[in-house]
Formats: sequence, C-alpha cells, structure tokens
Amino acid sequence: MPTNLITATYLIAAIFFIWSLGGLSSNVGARKGLWFGITGMVLAVSVTILNTDVVNYVLIAITMAIGSAIGLILATRVQMVQMPQLVAILHSLVGLAAVLIGYGGYMDDSLQLTGVEKTIHDIEVYIGIYIGAFTFSGSVMAFGKLSTLLNAKPVLLPARHYLNLLMFITVIIFGWIFVTPSTPEMAYIALYIMTALGIIFGIHMVLAIGGADMPVVISMLNSYSGWAAAATGFMLSNDLLIIVGALVGSSGAILSYIMCKAMNRNFFSVISGGFGTLTKTTASTSGEQIEVSNIDVAQTATLLLQAKKIVIVPGYGMAVAQAQHAVSGVTQLLMSQGVNVRFGIHPVAGRMPGHMNVLLAEAKIPYDAVFEMEQINPDFGNVDVSIVIGANDTVNPSALTDPDSPIAGMPVLEVWRGKTTIVLKRSMAQGYSGVENPLFGKENTRMLFGDAKTTMDALLLKLS
Ligand code: TAP
Repeated sequence: MPTNLITATYLIAAIFFIWSLGGLSSNVGARKGLWFGITGMVLAVSVTILNTDVVNYVLIAITMAIGSAIGLILATRVQMVQMPQLVAILHSLVGLAAVLIGYGGYMDDSLQLTGVEKTIHDIEVYIGIYIGAFTFSGSVMAFGKLSTLLNAKPVLLPARHYLNLLMFITVIIFGWIFVTPSTPEMAYIALYIMTALGIIFGIHMVLAIGGADMPVVISMLNSYSGWAAAATGFMLSNDLLIIVGALVGSSGAILSYIMCKAMNRNFFSVISGGFGTLTKTTASTSGEQIEVSNIDVAQTATLLLQAKKIVIVPGYGMAVAQAQHAVSGVTQLLMSQGVNVRFGIHPVAGRMPGHMNVLLAEAKIPYDAVFEMEQINPDFGNVDVSIVIGANDTVNPSALTDPDSPIAGMPVLEVWRGKTTIVLKRSMAQGYSGVENPLFGKENTRMLFGDAKTTMDALLLKLS
C-alpha cells in the first residue's frame, strides 16, 4: 500500500478517534462514540497490516487470533464491578508493549541512524521504555489492590519522596550514559538499570496510595499509558500512534483533574506522585456506636407515595447487588403516579468513572432524570425523600465537617438536607474509605437494612 495512502488513512482514523471521544462524553452519544472508535481502530489496524514493511502475515494472524480470543472471553465474562481492575491490567499491557517495542526498536540493526537523528531516536527509546516500565508495574499493582489480591492500605516508606527523586535523578544520569555510551554494552546496562528503576518506581508509587485515591490512580495510569503509546509513536515514526497516544494521555489527565476536584485532591501533588499526603490512615473510625432508626419496606412504600420530590442516590452497593433494574421499576412506577424522581450521581460513586451512569443507562432510566452532584446539591432542601442505595462515602457529611477525616474536603451529596433520607445497605459496615458515616445516625435518616436488590424488589411489589 502506498505510504501516502497509509498516512491519509491514519489521519481519517485519528478523526474517528476524536469523534469517538466526543460521543463518549455523554450518555446519549456513547453508542455512536463506540462505533466511531471501532471504525477508527479497524482502519488503523488494517492499513498497518497492509504496510509493505509487514511480511509475516501468518504470525500476525496467529497473534491477532489469540489476542481477540482473550479479549472476547474477558469482555463477556467480566462483571461490571470488576471493570476497574480489568482496565488496570489492560493499561499494564500498553506499558509492557511500550517497553518491548522500545527494546525491539533499539536492537533493530536495519536503522542506520547517525548524529542528531540517532540521539533523538535514542531519547525516544529511553523515554518510551521508562514510561512503559512504570505504567506496567504501577498498573499491575493497581490491579492487585483493586482485586484485593494486595492490601488496599497505603504502604508508606520513610522518605519516600526523596527515594522517588533519587530514582528519577539516577534515571536521568543513566539516560546521559545511554545516549553517549563509552561502549555498546554500557548503553544496554544503562537501559536495563533504567527499566528496573521504572518498574520499582511504578510499584512504589501505587503501593503508597490508599483506597480513596485509587480512582485517580486508575485514570492517571490511563494517561501514562497514552504517553507511553505516544513515545512509541515517535520511536516508530507512526503519526497515528502519536495522535492516539496524545488523545489518551491528555484525556486521562483531564479525567484525573476532574476527579481530583471531585475528591478535593491536589492535582499537582497527585501527578508528581505525592499521594501520601492524601491518605491519612488515622481517624478512620471514631469507635463510637451510631444509634440508628430503622424503617421497613411497607413504611418506605407509604413514605414514597406521599412524596412529591424524590432523589435516588446510587452507590457501589447498587452495583454489587445488581439492583438497577429493580430501581428502574420503582422509578417508573413512582413517575407514573406523578412523583418527581431524579437521580443524584457523585463523580466517584462506585468503583470507576461513570459507573453509576452505565448501570442506570443499562436499566433504561431516562437520561434527563440523571443529574450530576453539583446540579442536585442546591435542591436537596426541597426534596421530600432521598433514597441512598448502597452509597456510603459519597453521602458522608463528615467529609464537610471533620477536618481529620480521610475524606475531609471531598464534596458529597448532601442528602441530609432533605426531609427524610432512607439508606439501603446490609449492615453498619463502612464504605471504601473505611470511614464511619454520621449520616446513618441523623434524626431524619431511616435505615432499611438488607441486600439492595432484595429490598428494591420487595418495594416494587409493595408499590404495584
Ligand atoms: P462505598 O462508600 O464504597 O459504600 C458502598 C456501600 O454499599 C457499603 O457501605 C456497603 O455496606 C453497601 N453494599 C455493598 N453491597 C451491598 C448490597 N448487596 N446491598 C446493599 N448495600 C450494599 O460506595 P460509594 O458511596 O459509591 O463511594 C465510592 C467509594 O469508592 C469512594 O470512596 C470512592 O473514592 C471509591 N472509589 C471510587 C472509584 C470510582 S472511579 N468511582 C474507584 C475506586 C474507588 P454494607 O456492607 O453494610 O451493605
């Protein structure tokens, strides 16, 4: 295939990827966005294979068949609640690919570069491998933490920031040695040491991060994997990889920024790896018993039928219980009786960005009934009943009132400002951050204990 045609097709594919991101930014456009992405990817892979440099089609067919089979099995088997760890492990593959392509590119004898060109190529190889190495190990650690194979608590080594700084300076020094080596062996030694330091940095960075900060880590690793791909694109002189890498890198960074704002975290301390200050492990529990008032399904049904304005706040527990369809049934029933039912979504509710939106869309909840936290918070004063379904940290008032709380400063859905709040959960157990929730003990809160799906099914029966 002529090079010009390949470049033109790459450009078209890049436009599809940009349209895809645009579509994915809203519930309504998500399906279209997905198809744009698929089209872009089919174009990109097809013309890459048709490149005259590609000679071994059998090998490509075998690897694509294996990769597609693994992807298909994962996509059909993985549960929604396991999605963050799947995303983390997929990022690790991008990192690993950047490392392997970097080594491959450096060992490739067919490239006879000299002078400035060689220096630039070497720098691209070095940076690509470094970003790839820490993205790989960091993502594996994030996978371990999210899938509870590793302890979610932060591991804070003494002087860890200095350790990171020391490793970074060492990487720069070896970078110099790599670009101006006294012998070819020395260049490889520099490369190996840098790769090892990159892997250690990734492990150290993610191990130091505690539970509540994990969402930011996932999207930062997403961003890093994009930059690793972009660096690989420079190394291979592949324009599409540069564009797509930059798109992933910057959209991941923007998402991290939005999440930092949503959790009241400092973006710059996060991107510089300064996660430690964010995870106070003390004061997570007061040890005091919270006295609560219970409510049953029949009383809840009566209360809901008397209400004019209801806000439903879903959280991780709704995802675990798979209660979204029952929630949808109750919503439709109440709406048909003229009750104003809206949903309030916290940006980090659940375990991944957009988690609740996906579940609600799956259960066919109308998009115009779903509101962001900032939109719904000012209106809680006018709400008759707020129903909290398996949410905990995201409705915890201590985030606003207790400066020692690990989630201090995180904006939350202020459900307690409504007339009555009904909380659906199974026990008095804490949420992801391991923090007590004084909401449960408030005068206008009623606890409806039980599995969210069982309770919502019972409520649906009672209401119909
Ligand atoms: P959480 O604070 O994690 O609370 C979830 C609650 O659901 C738990 O208290 C649990 O209580 C209840 N629950 C679990 N299974 C249930 C079931 N079958 N039926 C009913 N209730 C059930 O949830 P949240 O408010 O959504 O907050 C999310 C937290 O995760 C935040 O701290 C956030 O920072 C963190 N996080 C978010 C993300 C992203 S990107 N969204 C990623 C990683 C971490 P019981 O055990 O008593 O039932």
